[in-house]
Amino acid sequence: MYKISVIPGDGIGKEVMEATLHVMEALNLEFDYVYADAGDEYEEISGIALPPETIDIVRNSQACLFGAAGESAADVIVKMRQELDLYVNLRPVKSYPGTKSVFDDLDFVIVRENTEGMYIGLEEYTEEGAVAKRVITRRASERISRFAFDYAKKTGRKKVTAVHKANVLKKTDGVFKDSFYKVGEEYPDLEKEDFYVDATAMYFLTKPQIFDVLVTTNLFGDILSDEGAGLVGGLGLIPSANIGDKQGLFEPVHGSAPRHAGKGTANPAAMMLSAVLMLDYLEEHDEARKMEKALIDVLAEGKVVTGDLGGTASTMEMAAEVRKKLESLS
Ligand code: NAI
Ligand code: MG
Repeated sequence: MYKISVIPGDGIGKEVMEATLHVMEALNLEFDYVYADAGDEYEEISGIALPPETIDIVRNSQACLFGAAGESAADVIVKMRQELDLYVNLRPVKSYPGTKSVFDDLDFVIVRENTEGMYIGLEEYTEEGAVAKRVITRRASERISRFAFDYAKKTGRKKVTAVHKANVLKKTDGVFKDSFYKVGEEYPDLEKEDFYVDATAMYFLTKPQIFDVLVTTNLFGDILSDEGAGLVGGLGLIPSANIGDKQGLFEPVHGSAPRHAGKGTANPAAMMLSAVLMLDYLEEHDEARKMEKALIDVLAEGKVVTGDLGGTASTMEMAAEVRKKLESLS
């Protein structure tokens, strides 16, 4: 029995969550769901977007499924990443059939450092303009590298690529790169390499098949993750994981999409794939592959899919179809 916190949040967050939990009922696993509040709607009634009770609920669970928040997203998700020290942001870049992927053979993962770098928030005005500080510590660089290597090992991947700009940012990215190779010595079976971020951005477009696991600092990871999302088409399809030493929080990359909210037209795939990432995090790899396959089959058939995928199905109709496939795999 897994204790899972569930934060549906706002707008389509609630709809894709309902759809995903409906599919998960067909897994051979038992979950104890604890619901928690966060987001715009909760802020309207309570005056606070992320109540301390919610942080406690997430802290006391093994993993959290998060739908989406609206305008309060920064107060909710950024705050949770900090409070729970979720220092890894994991974004798979995978082509699925029946979707608008630029390449049909992509399968790599971006591991982004989530707590420091350019986003530490140390900005100040000066007489000439403004200055931002970029903080790179050995501790954070080593733990993110270790996560990337462990992840590669666990998931049977072969190579980890560190992405940086150490030719210009000699000190900060020097620390990052050295930490990567230092930790890498503990993983003799994995191939290691490092690329400059600008070259990496180009290879994403020209030969992204060369990548397996990438590990990088906060800002570079933010940009490359969205570039990766662009490669495999559509916000409705892109999941993510925020992982710390004690918990993981799994969420679609999209927001509350107010224009779709309440209509039952949102694509639940990104939330379902976030749940798949959670199953892998819980080391339930067989169940993860089954749920992923059920979704892939529905995408490949392209019959019972939502509008953004060229279909006419509602969120829950697509969920019912994925669940039917999942049941047939069990
Ligand atoms: P958004 O991701 O909510 O939506 C952008 C557009 O992408 C939508 O209008 C829709 O056309 C499409 N889209 C997104 N998800 C979809 C899905 N599942 N199915 C079908 N189409 C989908 O981003 P936007 O419009 O910039 O922000 C809306 C609200 O969401 C804002 O209040 C923003 O602050 C919040 N937000 C929250 C995030 C979070 O909770 N992690 C992340 C991004 C935005
Ligand atoms: Mg981003």
